[in-house]
Amino acid sequence: MHDKGLILRKNRELEAILEVSRVLTSSFDLEDNLTSVMNILATRLEMQRGCVFLLDPGTKGLWIAAAHGLSSEEIRRGKYKIGEGIVGRVMESRTPMFVPDIGEEPRFLNRTGSRPEKSGVSFLSIPIGLKGEVLGVISADRIYSEEHGGVDDDLRVLSIVASLIAQFVKLWENYRRAEEESEVLRSQLKDRYSFPNIIGESERFQAVLKTVHKVAGTDATVLLLGESGTGKELIASTLHFQSRRAKGPFVAVNCAALPENLLEVELFGAEKGAFTGATSRRAGRFELAEGGTVFLDEVAELPLALQPKLLRVLQERTFEPLGSSMSKKADVRIIAATNRNLEAEARMGMFREDLYWRLNVVPIVLPSLRDRKKDIPLLVSHYIKRFGVMYRKNPVIEGEALEALCSYNWPGNVRELANTLERLVIMAEGEAVSKSDLPYNIIHAGVIATSPAIAPDAAPSAVGFSL
Ligand SMILES: Nc1ncnc2c1ncn2[C@@H]1O[C@H](COP(=O)(O)OP(=O)(O)OP(=O)(O)O)[C@@H](O)[C@H]1O
Ligand SMILES: [Mg+2]
Repeated sequence: MHDKGLILRKNRELEAILEVSRVLTSSFDLEDNLTSVMNILATRLEMQRGCVFLLDPGTKGLWIAAAHGLSSEEIRRGKYKIGEGIVGRVMESRTPMFVPDIGEEPRFLNRTGSRPEKSGVSFLSIPIGLKGEVLGVISADRIYSEEHGGVDDDLRVLSIVASLIAQFVKLWENYRRAEEESEVLRSQLKDRYSFPNIIGESERFQAVLKTVHKVAGTDATVLLLGESGTGKELIASTLHFQSRRAKGPFVAVNCAALPENLLEVELFGAEKGAFTGATSRRAGRFELAEGGTVFLDEVAELPLALQPKLLRVLQERTFEPLGSSMSKKADVRIIAATNRNLEAEARMGMFREDLYWRLNVVPIVLPSLRDRKKDIPLLVSHYIKRFGVMYRKNPVIEGEALEALCSYNWPGNVRELANTLERLVIMAEGEAVSKSDLPYNIIHAGVIATSPAIAPDAAPSAVGFSL
């Protein structure tokens, strides 16, 4: 070969190697990248029927990860054991092999069946190795003629390509392992902090579930804080049903629902004759909840006059029914909830500070839906499924409608979202729910949010829950 031809060939080799290295750093797609490499060798350097064989650490066999000039059936057939055929021998001996004419080589197994006419074709095979470890073999067919370089040139180019492939395969293996590990971690996390009917995979919400998981098994008093509709009652009952008191009763009392004197009887009970009309003894909720959990909802509304009695339950686990001088034991766990900023109320003297600290042993702040927008699509599909079953419909929320649901501010949080979806399912006429089917305030959320005259309604309960 004269000089000009040599320079041209060297240039093509360089270009091919450059292109190979570019392809191998473009992504972590093993088969795609290796197939591109074989195509580059074929188009730039006329190597026909190139194959990359990789070692399967499980079966200890070689499989074709990528090939050029082979059908998928031929690729599937191309399996070798270490030591078997030329490719297997290269793997075992860790040294390159050159077969000048495969028609005359008995060790050439032609396992892929891709060469009916074997004579006149040469075959090159090179180990793919990195730091003493052999990861596989790269091979190519070649018909030598005047304008091609010699075998040494080919072996040199192929060994550079083999070392680039080796580095890529190692990186790919690490990448895949990391992906698998993080997948396992993700599913473990999901398993560990998932409770029936509680939806939320956002970090904010997972942190809540993690705390729920930690304290469920204890008798610790829990204070649930959060805006209206964020799931305080749902978490309270979950804490109960995940605890060892699960078989005992879960008794909820809304402290805002009754006036002071009735609330006292409701909570602590009354002896016969304790007040006009008390014709028989009445058991209070603390007594009825024996062995279980009392959930004090809207605890900020507990009248100041009753607060010392609750404090005593928390400190000494005892109380006295109205009209009785006998203390009773309270074997209950207490969970309280409020959408008010209880700490601020305690500071201002509207709630007893000592009681606040007794309740605040384990505070759990439930994030507003605004602060966990990521969970909106999950909640939407959860409720669509649930109401779909309930109303025997199968509506699908269109993309634009879902976007509108996700960008709305949800002042009423999950409760508002659930109600909205129930209405949508009931009203749905066809299969699809489009943006125009949504309530006016959600479609025009952007407009409303920027108008301070309409927005403040959503704000008061948000104060103090920016944790
Ligand atoms: N993470 C959640 N996953 C699924 N449903 C939820 C979730 N959080 C709340 N909900 C649902 O939203 C509704 C309102 O929840 P809940 O009654 O527990 O809120 P709340 O914080 O007690 O509200 P309020 O302060 O107004 O009493 C319920 O139907 C509940 O099942
Ligand atoms: Mg509630």
